[in-house]
Amino acid sequence: MEPAICNYNGLEYNPSDPRFENLSKRAIKKLLKHDLWEATKDEKRLALREKTKLKRSEKRSEKRQKIEQGLIEPTPTKKKLAFLSELTNIGLIMDCAFNDLMEEKELYSLINQIGYAYGKNKIAPKSMKFCLSSVDASLTAPLNEKLPSWSSWKNVTVLPNSYLDNFDHNDLVYLSADSDNVIQELEQGKHYIIGAIVDKNRYKSLCQNKAMGQGIQTARLPIGEYIQMSTRKVLTVNQVCEIMLKWLEYKDWKKAFLEVIPGRKLVIPAVEEEA
Ligand SMILES: C[S@@+](CC[C@H](N)C(=O)[O-])C[C@H]1O[C@@H](n2cnc3c(N)ncnc32)[C@H](O)[C@@H]1O
Repeated sequence: MEPAICNYNGLEYNPSDPRFENLSKRAIKKLLKHDLWEATKDEKRLALREKTKLKRSEKRSEKRQKIEQGLIEPTPTKKKLAFLSELTNIGLIMDCAFNDLMEEKELYSLINQIGYAYGKNKIAPKSMKFCLSSVDASLTAPLNEKLPSWSSWKNVTVLPNSYLDNFDHNDLVYLSADSDNVIQELEQGKHYIIGAIVDKNRYKSLCQNKAMGQGIQTARLPIGEYIQMSTRKVLTVNQVCEIMLKWLEYKDWKKAFLEVIPGRKLVIPAVEEEA
């Protein structure tokens, strides 16, 4: 006798298939759901990609029309933004002295973050004096490999030695989530140091202890004073840099945090969420 063929949402299957033996109805359904996904995933992904492409092109032509009608300004190019960027008297130092504490993957991630931070600083309406300190071969080698364009970066000071040898102690502020001091505003003439490390919180208080040992002032961003985060308030190198740039642009910490910190890391108070 021919085996009975059944149908699950268009997927034909044989209920007496040994795969289904001793399985509950629920388990069979789960298996079939998985089979169905496997059989249709390429098609579904392609359809989704096409849909997104179409939406994007519709949006683009809508925007073009609005620009032509003079309803909106065209988005300035990065070149134009860089040209318009105003350099402040505030320094941003990436302390690159932690390379031997990172795994290779983390070091590559750090390199991406530094590149991203540099790019954001370059086109920010108000930019900072960008500096990399303690730069040695353990950083330049992977930089040359992963981000060869770094050698032509403009307006960046690359120091082979520590910031201590190059700046006045009193002008330095080491940024650390573990500091008891809270930044109210970024001050002209100061150089803010960011610990250039990706450590997934392995080294607690690393930068705070380093700065204290060197007799340098430390400070944390006023995150808890303006927003509630669902995770620890330790941010990545590029997020800290971007928040500083946004603050320089808006002079509004809350706006800066909300524009940079990913939504999934925020706890939105119920009242605001409803609004
Ligand atoms: C991934 S964190 C490094 C965490 C590291 N365990 C430490 O001891 O700081 C990278 C750097 O971003 C800066 N940073 C991160 N979160 C911050 C916060 N909430 N306030 C101030 N600086 C912060 C610090 O300079 C920190 O060294």
